[in-house]
Amino acid sequence: MTREGRLGVHDLRRMKKAGERIVMVTAYDFAMAKAVDAAGVDVILVGDSLGVVVLGYEDTLRVTMADMIHHSAAVARARPRALVVGDMPFLSYQADVPSAIRNAGRFVQRGGVPAVKLEGGHDVLSAVEGIVRAGIPVMGHLGYTPQSILRFGGPRVIGRSPKGAERLLADARALEDAGVFALVLEAVPPDVSAEITAKLGVPTIGIGAGPACDGQVLVLHDLAGLFEEFTPRFVKRFGEVGAALTAATAAFAREVRAGTFPDAAHSYGREEGARPVQSKRREETKAR
Ligand code: KIV
Repeated sequence: MTREGRLGVHDLRRMKKAGERIVMVTAYDFAMAKAVDAAGVDVILVGDSLGVVVLGYEDTLRVTMADMIHHSAAVARARPRALVVGDMPFLSYQADVPSAIRNAGRFVQRGGVPAVKLEGGHDVLSAVEGIVRAGIPVMGHLGYTPQSILRFGGPRVIGRSPKGAERLLADARALEDAGVFALVLEAVPPDVSAEITAKLGVPTIGIGAGPACDGQVLVLHDLAGLFEEFTPRFVKRFGEVGAALTAATAAFAREVRAGTFPDAAHSYGREEGARPVQSKRREETKAR
């Protein structure tokens, strides 16, 4: 816990040791951050999935640092109890270590987040080490990594073959040695993520990676029924928020068209003896 009673990166390791499951969910603005924090989640990820579920892109590749900082700062202003993690977007850490450190620093200074996440294994070790050395906690992300969609050719399960599973474990160990405080495993066979989870000291957080991970993460729009375009097998819909928004808006539209909204209860009253609005306006204009 931080001095303000908020969860810190060390709490996740403590939770793993205590066998407490970690709950992580994405959020992209102030209102959503308030809502998910009120549900008692442990980690809020400002994911670059915002490119797809909020901005309407087909994938995450067009998300920029400016997008991520804008949304992270909105989440940070909600001052959640949960640990907030900012997702480093495509090309913000791959080119070279100094720019990775600078971009992670922008996340902290302008996005107001105390930790960042980045995707990849051996390819990104030097970036992870550099950012950690600069004093910024890093969460890793292995398995299917959406920023590599051009290489993968689309979502797929990673680590099915014995060689693939070995590579995944080696990457996980290397990331732990490089200093990550937690590791997301996406679209990984459950027995492979169970082995990685057992062999690492840092917690694993699964998405489509089976129940043995130390925690689970889902994209908020997926779990809440706010996104219809694409539903991976691992998503469970826990609510119908999209349908609730449509129903509320339709009720508003009905009342506006029927002339029943706004009624007296949703309109302002006047003071006793107040003059008609028009003459008062004319007086104000004269005074100007
Ligand atoms: O961008 C994101 O939302 C993520 C999670 C799915 C782990 O990376």
